[in-house]
Amino acid sequence: MKESIVKSDKPGLQGVRVLLGVTGSIAAYKAAEWVRELVKEEALVTVMMTDSACEFVSSLTFAALSGNRVYRQMFAEDPEGVMAHINLSRDTDILLIAPATAQTLSRLSHGMGDDLISTTVLAARKPVVICPAMNTNMFLHPASQQNLERLRSYGYQLVDPDSGSLACGEEGTGRLPEWDVAREALLGALTLNDLEGRKVVVTAGPTREALDPARYLTNRSSGKMGYALARAARRRGAKVTLVSGPVDLDAPPGIELVRVQSARQMESAVLEHAQGAAVVVKAAAVADYRPATAQEHKIKKKAEPMHLDLVKNNDILATLGQNRRPGQILVGFAAESQNHRQEGFRKLTEKGADLIVVNDILGSTTGFDVDTNQVTLVEQNQVTELPLMSKEGTANQILNRVVALLEQQ
Ligand code: CTP
Repeated sequence: MKESIVKSDKPGLQGVRVLLGVTGSIAAYKAAEWVRELVKEEALVTVMMTDSACEFVSSLTFAALSGNRVYRQMFAEDPEGVMAHINLSRDTDILLIAPATAQTLSRLSHGMGDDLISTTVLAARKPVVICPAMNTNMFLHPASQQNLERLRSYGYQLVDPDSGSLACGEEGTGRLPEWDVAREALLGALTLNDLEGRKVVVTAGPTREALDPARYLTNRSSGKMGYALARAARRRGAKVTLVSGPVDLDAPPGIELVRVQSARQMESAVLEHAQGAAVVVKAAAVADYRPATAQEHKIKKKAEPMHLDLVKNNDILATLGQNRRPGQILVGFAAESQNHRQEGFRKLTEKGADLIVVNDILGSTTGFDVDTNQVTLVEQNQVTELPLMSKEGTANQILNRVVALLEQQ
């Protein structure tokens, strides 16, 4: 039933019609923040509210933030005299119920149709994402847990609540999670699961090669491309391990994150996690050399010039290429300032990869530390020049080729 409506050339949720059902929890104010985030990335948001949700936040707040009328009643307010629950569920791409109270979970899991939100969910033939938020004891009660189980069995996507201090003064599980978690759930529910059940290892960021306790050699990689790839693979249903050098990015939700510093640490983490992986994507900018010795104490300046002795790091991608298990797909990156295609083909052959993503590092809208990229995909029998697009979009295009390569196995 699920089809992909996320367009790979558009960033995230742009143009996606989201029908948000807000129910009566203190976390309703956070849902108002989520509407702002959705509108910021040009999603089209329509809000439904229960009466108890309106006790916490005025429907006017949601109307102002979404730029749309807020729906509260099944029949009374509909000017056209048609049934709101049918039209609302028809004219949307996805339903998001957040925050979902224990009462709402119970209503939805039992197929009740006694208010606008429950009836709309019943009538919907679209993906449904539910974000429970409540007191910890209510959440852990067997009745709520059984309701969650049942909702999962209907194919709805449940987003785990966060743990921490709750509005009721207690500590525990039950908080509405951060927007990023809900956003990933929405994108996951809208994306075709063509990597379902596959293990994907992605590397990202720079490495740091220690010189002394105060200094290291590194490069300008921000990790954005690798993190976008990890998120995109997760949305397509993959089980993702992200081996990351030091970067200034949040851990993506639902992904196993292995943090490393040096090329040697990255090598051992990648070789360990690549076992059993269907796909390995090496987006990290691994240092080719490291100082021959990392000094135990800080190097002091002297009058005469200083020379650094560097030794070569192992090429992790080439090692993977030599030892790959049958059917494993290997994707490498090539950060280039000239001869893009030739370098792409050279690295494809030398490293035994299936695909090399050639990155122009000289442009101001491509390469290091920007949100956009323009790459060339080099494969044995095909070269694809991609236009300038978001790193999220680029990640999806790369994974389209990975899926095609997996299908050719
Ligand atoms: N790579 C690797 N291990 C290394 C160096 C690079 O796995 N020690 C991987 C990178 O993650 C990337 C690919 O090899 O996927 C190409 O990296 P790049 O730095 O562009 O190429 P180099 O092999 O360093 O070649 P050159 O210095 O000639 O550009």
